Amino acid sequence: MNKTIVSINDVSVNLLPPREGGGYILRAVSFDVSQGGIVGVVGGSGSGKTTLGLAMLGLLPEVMTMSSGRIIFEGKDITRFSDADLRAFRGFGVSMAFQEPVSAFDPVMTIGAQIRETVLAHERISPAAARERVLQALRHAGIGDPVRVASAYAFELSGGLRQRAMIAQAIVCRPKLLIADEPTSNLDVNTQDKILELFKELRSSLGLSIMLITHDLGVVRRVADEVVVLCRGSVVEQGKAAQVMTSPRAEYTKLLLAAEG
Ligand SMILES: Nc1ncnc2c1ncn2[C@@H]1O[C@H](COP(=O)(O)OP(=O)(O)O)[C@@H](O)[C@H]1O
Ligand SMILES: [Mg+2]
Repeated sequence: MNKTIVSINDVSVNLLPPREGGGYILRAVSFDVSQGGIVGVVGGSGSGKTTLGLAMLGLLPEVMTMSSGRIIFEGKDITRFSDADLRAFRGFGVSMAFQEPVSAFDPVMTIGAQIRETVLAHERISPAAARERVLQALRHAGIGDPVRVASAYAFELSGGLRQRAMIAQAIVCRPKLLIADEPTSNLDVNTQDKILELFKELRSSLGLSIMLITHDLGVVRRVADEVVVLCRGSVVEQGKAAQVMTSPRAEYTKLLLAAEG
């Protein structure tokens, strides 16, 4: 058994201000991500997938609060981190490739400049070294012509390249865990396959652990070792991906599988 990188224990997130019924967005969510593991977090729209990712970065929206639970990274509870600790953690510990790379990137800044800013926010290195790190991250993300992509604006790139650039930005500070939020939505099937292959490569070349957030069970089936099924903020089923895909126990998982066709 590989060691655990992140352990999510009994995490509940609620809307603010407090309301009747609790306003739960996440309810007592618990699971572990192991070193080099790929965990698929699946659920329909609004089930709390993105919120879970944001909670793991200490980046919940202002209208939400974590009302219970601990998120343990390398033995430390990140929910007790100071803002400064959290900023460092978001580069080297856990980082997220956000849903909708179109809006996640600044439209008037080149891709290279944005990734360089991320490196320089976390590390004291020379401009030349930062530039090299940007190109290296783009290469790790499977981009064959990193110089061209670095000098492009987000809108000039295809959906697949934009997703790769988003991943490059997330891995440029060499985190232990990459959270990828709906990385294959809005991509054609061929491009989806290539992005999923990239996750496997990143796992083997960089030893990265990956939490793959998706509404698409097909994605989980292709790359995940473990799966966590979220329904309206609660985990309704979790286990080995192969097992959950072939003999689901929760009604909700069965519905998701049936919907997949
Ligand atoms: N900034 C916000 N303010 C209020 N409610 C929000 C906000 N962001 C998300 N929500 C609500 O939280 C729930 C979970 O959302 P989200 O985590 O984005 O789900 P998913 O990523 O699974 O589609 C939804 O009901 C959504 O409407
Ligand atoms: Mg989402």
